[in-house]
Amino acid sequence: MEYCSKLFSMLKPFIAANWKMNKTIKETEDFITSFLPMVKDVKDVDIAIAPPFTSLASAGKLLKATSIQLAAQNVFYEEKGAFTGEVSAGMLTDAGCSLVIMGHSERRHLFSESNEAVNKKIRAARKNRLEVILCVGETLREREENKTFEVLESQLSGSLKDIMLEGITIAYEPVWAIGTGKTATPEQANEAHTFIKKWLKKQFGEEAGRTRILYGGSVTPENIESLMEEPEVEGALVGGASLNPESFAKIIFGAKRRKK
Ligand code: 13P
Repeated sequence: MEYCSKLFSMLKPFIAANWKMNKTIKETEDFITSFLPMVKDVKDVDIAIAPPFTSLASAGKLLKATSIQLAAQNVFYEEKGAFTGEVSAGMLTDAGCSLVIMGHSERRHLFSESNEAVNKKIRAARKNRLEVILCVGETLREREENKTFEVLESQLSGSLKDIMLEGITIAYEPVWAIGTGKTATPEQANEAHTFIKKWLKKQFGEEAGRTRILYGGSVTPENIESLMEEPEVEGALVGGASLNPESFAKIIFGAKRRKK
């Protein structure tokens, strides 16, 4: 495929842990303390961990001297004020975050997060020098109705409207593969990633060449290698299998062995 340029295959793999609503502060600290020695020599994979809000500051202290990025799982777009229950981008930076996950399907479906809200959140993150992992993905029904590309296009165009691509990573997370044990086949992932890359290239030109596309949905130490062998899969956003330090480290080592 002509679009799979050399530049793309040279992008460093990126493996991010999304812990969702799991782990206390103590559990977070225990994880990081045992995980850091396991990956201390890893230089050729970028790593991020997204604990829940309550653990961010303590995780931030432990990760400060490392190259592992601390990520939040959500952010609100206003800077401060009467927004009960919300957390601003400035507060995330203050806690040590350099990255934030946006538009996760659980937020889109359980909390009615719209593309418009995601767009505002990306702008707020930008202002506070936070990088972004933007999640997109179709439901099973949408896939069965052959609407996968339509859904991806609408999520991408709505979320990225009038925004520069720099500092943004895209995570393709088919909703039917999240927490279900049903991974997309490497070919299905690659097909969606190829569509996303072509779309980004059309909208953003050369800038798109620096954007990594991660796959998310039932990634495990057992399937990471075959996923990463696909030309357009540059990393993974891992839920359940990132909760255990050994299993998350194995996924990182699997990504490192990428043959491209
Ligand atoms: P699982 O790896 O548990 O399927 O979760 C994927 C996910 O939603 C990561 O953001």
